[in-house]
Amino acid sequence: MSRIIRLDLAFGLVVLLAACSGSDQPAPGGEGSKIVLGFSQIGAESEWQTANITSVRAAAAEAGITLRISDAQLKQENQIEALRSFIAQRVDVIAFSPVVETGWESVLREAKAAEIPVILTDRAVEVSEDTLYLTLIGSDFVEEGRKAGRWLLEHYSKETAKDHPGDINIVELQGRVGSAPANDRQKGFAEIIAADPRFRIIRSQTGEFTRAKGKEVMEEFLKAEGRRINVLFAHNDDMALGAIQAIEEAGMKPGSDITIISIDGVKGAFEAMIAGKLNVTVECNPLLGPQLIAAVKDVAAGKTIPRRIVTEESVFPREVAAQELPKRKY
Ligand code: AHR
Repeated sequence: MSRIIRLDLAFGLVVLLAACSGSDQPAPGGEGSKIVLGFSQIGAESEWQTANITSVRAAAAEAGITLRISDAQLKQENQIEALRSFIAQRVDVIAFSPVVETGWESVLREAKAAEIPVILTDRAVEVSEDTLYLTLIGSDFVEEGRKAGRWLLEHYSKETAKDHPGDINIVELQGRVGSAPANDRQKGFAEIIAADPRFRIIRSQTGEFTRAKGKEVMEEFLKAEGRRINVLFAHNDDMALGAIQAIEEAGMKPGSDITIISIDGVKGAFEAMIAGKLNVTVECNPLLGPQLIAAVKDVAAGKTIPRRIVTEESVFPREVAAQELPKRKY
């Protein structure tokens, strides 16, 4: 047998063995193999984000799903890099909570070309084509802003004209610039307070969803406006908690000199309400792990999932804080 024919036979045997061993392997995510989920988390921004990642880890572990987590440290470029790395690793499903709304088109097209399904958790993206992701699981942020606005209108409807004869001056601590919760909460709140001309937003600036920045920006608001400020609307609890410190340091009483409304419903907010320093928190539930993992399992099983999965949430005014705190899971 010539050397070339012997080499051909040997190559054929290798191919055959490879094919046989391949057919013994279960399909990715199929019965007998573990589903691999690549998850890009935003990073250490707030108590909410910590609760969110804990929930995802627990739900994945319970379902026996292999979870590969990448921390974006609050940067979109890190998230894009993480998604590209998940595509290269050929994970079964990619999930991520986009730090900002725009700029995802190319990487989502790459995931689509690689036939890796993408699930958005918590935050939305703006893309030209719906098919670039399967579903969005999370809160309705516009509605959260509306709930905050409705609570404010209701709160002041109980006040007499004598207590508040003139304008009601609001300062707003926005979330991270360009993020869905910041854009949507601002929109929902503005839409509701527009119904009553007494309400005026006199200052609005980002506190980046963090306690430290919330405090810093509130100090600036206080320096500029002082006792003219009647209301603070903070897009999350962490910024409200930072602002509370700034208000106290300025010699004012948070929760009475300044009415404070925030969003999330973390334990720290309940403690602040019990201490009389925060008036209300609108719930934004971070415990998305079980819903995400259920969706991942359905996708891996080839089932169709709804385009939008909205979480159910409440509003907690300080009157109910003491009774609710023991029930809080985050
Ligand atoms: O996307 C959810 C928001 O992001 C939460 O309100 C906030 O606390 C966070 O960091």
